[in-house]
Amino acid sequence: MEPIFCFSLILLFFSGISADYIFSESINPNFTATYLQFIYSSGAFLSSRNGTFEAAIFNPEHQQSRFYLCVIHVPSRTIIWSANRDAPISNSDTMNLTTKGITIFYHDRNVKWSTPPLKSPVSALQLTETGNLVLLDSSNVSLWESFQHPTDTIVMGQRLPVGTWLSSAISVSDLSTGDYNLSITSSDAILQWHGQTYWKLSMVSNAFQDSSHMVEYMAINRTALDLFGSNGTVTVFRVVLPMAHFRIAKLAVNGQFTVQSFSGTGWVVQDFVGPDNGCETPFFCGRLGLCTHGAASSSPSCYCPPNFHAGSSDVPGCVPSSGSYSSPSACNSSVYDGASNSSSVSYLELGGGIQYFGNTYSNTVTYVVNLTICQDICSRNCSCLGFFYENSSGSCYILENQLGSIMSSSGGANNSLGYIKVIGALASAIDPRTSEDDSLPVAVLVIIPIAGFIIAMALGFLWLRRYRTSRAKERELGNFKSRSSDDLETFYIPGLPKRFDYEELVEATDSFKTLIGSGGFGAVFKGQLPDKTLVAVKKIVSLGNQGKKDFCTEIAIIGNIHHVNLVKLKGFCAEGRQRLLIYEFMNRGSLDRSLFGGGPALEWQERFDIALGTARGLAYLHGGCEQKIIHCDIKPENILLHDHFQAKISDFGLSKLLSPEQSGLFTTMRGTRGYLAPEWLTNSAITEKTDVYSFGMVLLELVSGRKNCSVGSQSPSKDESMSSNSGTSSGTGLVYFPLYALEMHEQGRHLELADPRLGGRVSNEEVEKLVRVALCCVHEEPSLRPNMATVVGMLEGGTPLAQPRIESLNFLRFYGRRFSEASMIAEESTASQQARKPSATSTGGSQTAFSYISSHDISGPR
Ligand SMILES: *[C@@H]1O[C@H](CO)[C@@H](O)[C@H](O)[C@H]1NC(C)=O
Ligand SMILES: *[C@@H]1O[C@H](CO)[C@@H](O)[C@H](O)[C@H]1NC(C)=O
Ligand SMILES: *[C@@H]1O[C@H](CO)[C@@H](O)[C@H](O)[C@H]1NC(C)=O
Ligand SMILES: *[C@@H]1O[C@H](CO)[C@@H](O)[C@H](O)[C@H]1NC(C)=O
Ligand SMILES: *[C@@H]1O[C@H](CO)[C@@H](O)[C@H](O)[C@H]1NC(C)=O
Ligand SMILES: *[C@@H]1O[C@H](CO)[C@@H](O)[C@H](O)[C@H]1NC(C)=O
Ligand SMILES: *[C@@H]1O[C@H](CO)[C@@H](O)[C@H](O)[C@H]1NC(C)=O
Ligand SMILES: *[C@@H]1O[C@H](CO)[C@@H](O)[C@H](O)[C@H]1NC(C)=O
Ligand SMILES: *[C@@H]1O[C@H](CO)[C@@H](O)[C@H](O)[C@H]1NC(C)=O
Ligand SMILES: *[C@@H]1O[C@H](CO)[C@@H](O)[C@H](O)[C@H]1NC(C)=O
Ligand SMILES: *[C@@H]1O[C@H](CO)[C@@H](O)[C@H](O)[C@H]1NC(C)=O
Repeated sequence: MEPIFCFSLILLFFSGISADYIFSESINPNFTATYLQFIYSSGAFLSSRNGTFEAAIFNPEHQQSRFYLCVIHVPSRTIIWSANRDAPISNSDTMNLTTKGITIFYHDRNVKWSTPPLKSPVSALQLTETGNLVLLDSSNVSLWESFQHPTDTIVMGQRLPVGTWLSSAISVSDLSTGDYNLSITSSDAILQWHGQTYWKLSMVSNAFQDSSHMVEYMAINRTALDLFGSNGTVTVFRVVLPMAHFRIAKLAVNGQFTVQSFSGTGWVVQDFVGPDNGCETPFFCGRLGLCTHGAASSSPSCYCPPNFHAGSSDVPGCVPSSGSYSSPSACNSSVYDGASNSSSVSYLELGGGIQYFGNTYSNTVTYVVNLTICQDICSRNCSCLGFFYENSSGSCYILENQLGSIMSSSGGANNSLGYIKVIGALASAIDPRTSEDDSLPVAVLVIIPIAGFIIAMALGFLWLRRYRTSRAKERELGNFKSRSSDDLETFYIPGLPKRFDYEELVEATDSFKTLIGSGGFGAVFKGQLPDKTLVAVKKIVSLGNQGKKDFCTEIAIIGNIHHVNLVKLKGFCAEGRQRLLIYEFMNRGSLDRSLFGGGPALEWQERFDIALGTARGLAYLHGGCEQKIIHCDIKPENILLHDHFQAKISDFGLSKLLSPEQSGLFTTMRGTRGYLAPEWLTNSAITEKTDVYSFGMVLLELVSGRKNCSVGSQSPSKDESMSSNSGTSSGTGLVYFPLYALEMHEQGRHLELADPRLGGRVSNEEVEKLVRVALCCVHEEPSLRPNMATVVGMLEGGTPLAQPRIESLNFLRFYGRRFSEASMIAEESTASQQARKPSATSTGGSQTAFSYISSHDISGPR
């Protein structure tokens, strides 16, 4: 018991309640960090001065297998840099900062990543307010900077010099180097895929050219994306962008180069994207998948060209329809042995009206020849996998090394002819010269542009249906695997809400286009069902290998809970590994947006109604339905608002869905630090009173209109009154609001606690009522907290208001002191390292310490 308790305190001190402001902007050598050690701050251990950036050991998308040392732009949660992108670590692996630099260890011994040898010893690691992670020597000279080793992103203030490049990540959760490059050349910025160019900045219509100078670097600022020459004095290319507060340029996982901007309130706008047409990215539809634009608004869709059909997961993309042929990989000797100069090399025609992404930029147009010669060039070279021949010009485009997607082109159907090299077991080669005439009808049927579109749609409909589904599922892999039979299996569980096909949800959400929120369980997208009802579709991530049936059993329970203050589950989808939940759509989004956002302040009556609605919803979960459900994650983000500020609780019952072996607890808690009851940190049981505590914390935020753990904008007089107190605030204006509320309650000055934006539109009595209920809810001793039914009674007025028990609130003084001390950590960093060591000396130690709160504890009781 004793060691565990000590550990809790350390945890609390370093990463607990005051996690947001605990970090300094720099740390000194002999510092060690693991994800587990900083779990309460999602792995963050360093924060830039204004908190705009964090350095963290982080697992993107909450998956549990890949952790990276990252720099994160906090308002948008964008990873702008990662150290060990190709060498991920686990949640217990360490990052060490020594005088020699940063080293990332795997299982405590093997070096996974490290900074290069440095000129002089490191005296500090600093994260600047621009997002640059810098190693400094004793005279504050930079020894190494993350800005000079970009991964897939640049930010304002960063330069991407000529000769360097950005490489995309494989996926949003796997940051390994992917297949797309943005390179800066002396004349341009180009996008490449396996050496094949598919986009150039100079070809963007509004990128006006200022000079014929040589490009030296790329940069973005608040108004433009620029390629500069002559040491920044000459602009070679400029794309003018709308004025923005902050901007990030990223080479996205799909190969598109995007520039996004962020307003002060965290609103994200996509300012620029190249290429803007998804079909012009090289692998949108996988190898040889045919990418087609439907109507202007709809997103591109994929199917296989004539003579090809969808491959398996082993052979992603499209493969020759005839089993006798295979499309070889470049210079694969096992294929070419005995084949290269035999008649078994042949060509399949792609049909008319088809283009290859690279042809526009290709410099392999070596010859102006006839079709026969073009084919011979390809046949003689094992790196050639196919060719395009342009009738009108006689141009011959050789497709080398890697085959990407093809696209329907609006050019003349017969002008551009594509042929793909195949190796056949049979000797009956398809000679392009003889197949041309036969293929004409096929070509006519398949042309997509204008007139042919509808016919093609009819023919392609089956393909389209299947590929949309699989494309969305497997786009990263370019995998065209058709639905497994498991997905078609059906079983009946009484009370199960409506079951949706994944494909229906892809359509409803326009391929998961509009992200409206994200939480511990996954991202939420806006959607519209065919009957025009708006829905919120939650894509659950990292569920582990939980069986579909177990999932459905839980869903049936959640789906049977109906209460006006609980978000209604309308349906679900469980296909393959996909797990989605479909909820009713809430017009006004989550409470945190209304409460902390920049919009008009909530009126007192609205706040009160939200408090009462939330209390009623929770009371129902705790006692009103067949099975008691403990929410475990009450916070403003999980309280949604409908018209007239009717509050509805979301995400209830979900903690049960996490599989026991995964660290679901951590996922659940990451967004939740200010709302966590003390019993999470001690060995006590988690009961419904845990939710009561979180509700009390939310109630205090409703009163004050600001986060409990945040920098307060206190008036000087308040600061004065508080500095006389036991460390509620520090000189930097850090205030742990619950403690401030306790102190004001003791002095009877409740009105001081009300959101200043309310002006005088609230009385002392009204504030006192909520503050007293809130303080009762946050009693340290769970049994002293009222149950939710009593809370509802007190709010409605039917039950007399209870008096908070000061002796069970003194722990707030301890939290508050930690909170303000944390703000001085910069000055105390040496001391903190001493204290930090015990928790980090061995992974074994920290695992033991964590084992007492297994995820079973949260998901166990309902
Ligand atoms: C990392 O640093 C800690 C503390 O300085 C040390 O105990 C540990 O041995 C280091 N890890 C390695 C692999 O050097
Ligand atoms: C860090 O560790 C090295 C080697 O273990 C030691 O020489 C050095 O004095 C330590 N520095 C600090 C500041 O503790
Ligand atoms: C940091 O915040 C302060 C106060 O809000 C502001 O004056 C300053 O310009 C900010 N610094 C940066 C680099 O954004
Ligand atoms: C280095 O920078 C830190 C913080 O900015 C400052 O406290 C320190 O005095 C500087 N040291 C030198 C040698 O300039
Ligand atoms: C990206 O560019 C670098 C440098 O030119 C090169 O080494 C790497 O192979 C490229 N990656 C791809 C997938 O083309
Ligand atoms: C962006 O950079 C250009 C070129 O240096 C400069 O003219 C412009 O004023 C900058 N805009 C802002 C908002 O700094
Ligand atoms: C380039 O400009 C920077 C300031 O913008 C200056 O410090 C540097 O000396 C210049 N370099 C050259 C080679 O002119
Ligand atoms: C070469 O071809 C053989 C037979 O088709 C295949 O098994 C192998 O994976 C190929 N190798 C590469 C590197 O593509
Ligand atoms: C290809 O043909 C040449 C002669 O034309 C012959 O020497 C060589 O062995 C053949 N290669 C294969 C793999 O059959
Ligand atoms: C293509 O050109 C070559 C050489 O110029 C010639 O021998 C051949 O007959 C031509 N083929 C056709 C189909 O015109
Ligand atoms: C195949 O084509 C590439 C690019 O055109 C060229 O570099 C290579 O030398 C060619 N190989 C042969 C055997 O002709």
